[in-house]
Amino acid sequence: MTYTVRRLQVDLETPWPRHWAGGDAFRSAWFNALSFSFPAGEQLFIDSVRLAATKLEGESRARFTDEVQAFIGQEATHRRIHQRFNAQLQAQGYINTWEGRILHRRATQLEGQDPRVWLGVTAATEHFTAILAEWLLTNPAALDGAEPRLRDLWLWHASEESEHRATAFDLYQALGGSLRWRRRLFVVITLHFATDVLRQTLANLWRDGHWWRPATWAGAWRLLLGRGGLVRATWRPWRRYFAADFHPDEGNGAPAETWLAAHADLAPPVRQAAGGVSPAA
Ligand SMILES: [Fe+2]
Ligand SMILES: [Fe+2]
Repeated sequence: MTYTVRRLQVDLETPWPRHWAGGDAFRSAWFNALSFSFPAGEQLFIDSVRLAATKLEGESRARFTDEVQAFIGQEATHRRIHQRFNAQLQAQGYINTWEGRILHRRATQLEGQDPRVWLGVTAATEHFTAILAEWLLTNPAALDGAEPRLRDLWLWHASEESEHRATAFDLYQALGGSLRWRRRLFVVITLHFATDVLRQTLANLWRDGHWWRPATWAGAWRLLLGRGGLVRATWRPWRRYFAADFHPDEGNGAPAETWLAAHADLAPPVRQAAGGVSPAA
């Protein structure tokens, strides 16, 4: 399956309030933490998929040509947008500590490995982004009261993550990636993701001077553990990744399709060339 590469029309030059997510310190710090991981993380996804594409042969290669181009185009666009978002965060005094850990692990644990290991890491992380995306798109409370242009940014990114959620997984399968390694890498990615997002969120709150306030931790409870919160809502789809018969298509892509159709003016397609979609320059 292929999809469209879009360019988001959003103003990321005008500064925004530190607690842009409805005035909630924890929620803002948590979204900001995620954004800090994206430029290095999404470059890793792009390179994994690109590497995998060189190993495909015959029919598989033809089957994935357009989809790989579209995937790279979407993730490259996300990287650029989040680099601009992160530049504002850095101007507000936040320090990106997560990115260094991604780059270090990439250099020490992935370089030189079989492309299926790269893809297994990417498919596992893409499952995380897909379930986060579906939660965000179906829980308006998550971005309640958020700065409107930033809400657009997060819902656009979430929609495209949901849209391309099967690509890395399908490539992993096409290259003969095993179930054992798929599970194993998902455990590793889960541990890294959970600790990294927490560490970066705490670092952001520390910079804010808000880490000790009761309202901050009430926000944490609402976001993560309360009714409709992230942990409760994503537990089941998280666990599904271990099942032998799991496929990302079992996720719910409808909210993303609806959002993208309703916001076509905000995120118009970039030029399409014969034989595939050209990533935005
Ligand atoms: Fe992305
Ligand atoms: Fe993605």
